[in-house]
Amino acid sequence: MNIVEKIAIMRESIQAARGKGLLVGLVPTMGALHEGHLSLVRRCRDECGFAVVSIFVNPTQFAPNEDFDNYPRTLDEDYLMCKALDVDLVFAPLRSEMYPGSGHSWVEVDKLSDYLCGASRPHFFRGVCTVVGKLFNIMTPDKAYFGQKDYQQLAIIHRMVIDLNIPVDIVGCPTVREQDGLAMSSRNRNLDPGQREQAACLHEALRKGAELIAGGQSDPVRVIADITAVITAQPESHIDYISIVDKELLYPVEVINGPVLIALAVQIGPVRLIDNILVDPPQKSS
Ligand code: PAJ
Repeated sequence: MNIVEKIAIMRESIQAARGKGLLVGLVPTMGALHEGHLSLVRRCRDECGFAVVSIFVNPTQFAPNEDFDNYPRTLDEDYLMCKALDVDLVFAPLRSEMYPGSGHSWVEVDKLSDYLCGASRPHFFRGVCTVVGKLFNIMTPDKAYFGQKDYQQLAIIHRMVIDLNIPVDIVGCPTVREQDGLAMSSRNRNLDPGQREQAACLHEALRKGAELIAGGQSDPVRVIADITAVITAQPESHIDYISIVDKELLYPVEVINGPVLIALAVQIGPVRLIDNILVDPPQKSS
């Protein structure tokens, strides 16, 4: 497995792989890899002849008051995990390679970025789209793999490649969870043991919401009230948002009468966590 820091070398390696007729797959990450990331890597490995993982903690998707400095960085362990999964190449550029000088060009996807995390972190998706756009330009992958844990990110990147005619197949992969339901996340390692236990409330609350909708509750206000109660039972929880939105366009629904996404962002102690669940309400007979 090669570890590459330079864009020019990256381009040469991709060209060489293409020369051999190999399908190029990319898994973009910010490192501190866990089983969630690895599920994407395995799928990429299975489906593509040349599997690339990028590891870059992207500064442009963090606001100045956010956890860029405290974001976990475990590069040596990450390399070993990628090697064990037979990854062909890890792209781990320095910040100066990805953002030489001060950047002035941005990629923005509007509307879909207005809701959920986009509302509470207005800079965030612009940073994500810009860096993912740059990675797509550098690597020109045939396929790129993203997790449904970051549902809005997946939806926005999907939109971005359609709108900008980027010829890459975006593959969405299911959320991998711990035994108690907590969605795996690099940030989980910044929870202390007590907070880690409390963090299970995110998935518990989502399941409660899904059950209510499956049982016929069509008023999002009532569902959100019950979800809120599950979260606030945990002493170190602080709700950023809980929303029930259209699963395609991500706007909050007023009545639940079709497939919806319940999405939430909750701070547990110092760590902001997100999760979501898709729910198909029962068909009402007319
Ligand atoms: P990061 O949080 O490292 O996640 C990298 C990829 O792994 C994303 O597609 C994310 O959805 C997926 N992932 C994370 N946890 C997962 C889980 N528990 N189950 C399944 N997939 C999971 O998302 C980013 O990095 C960045 O925003 C990035 C796209 C790399 C741009 O900087």
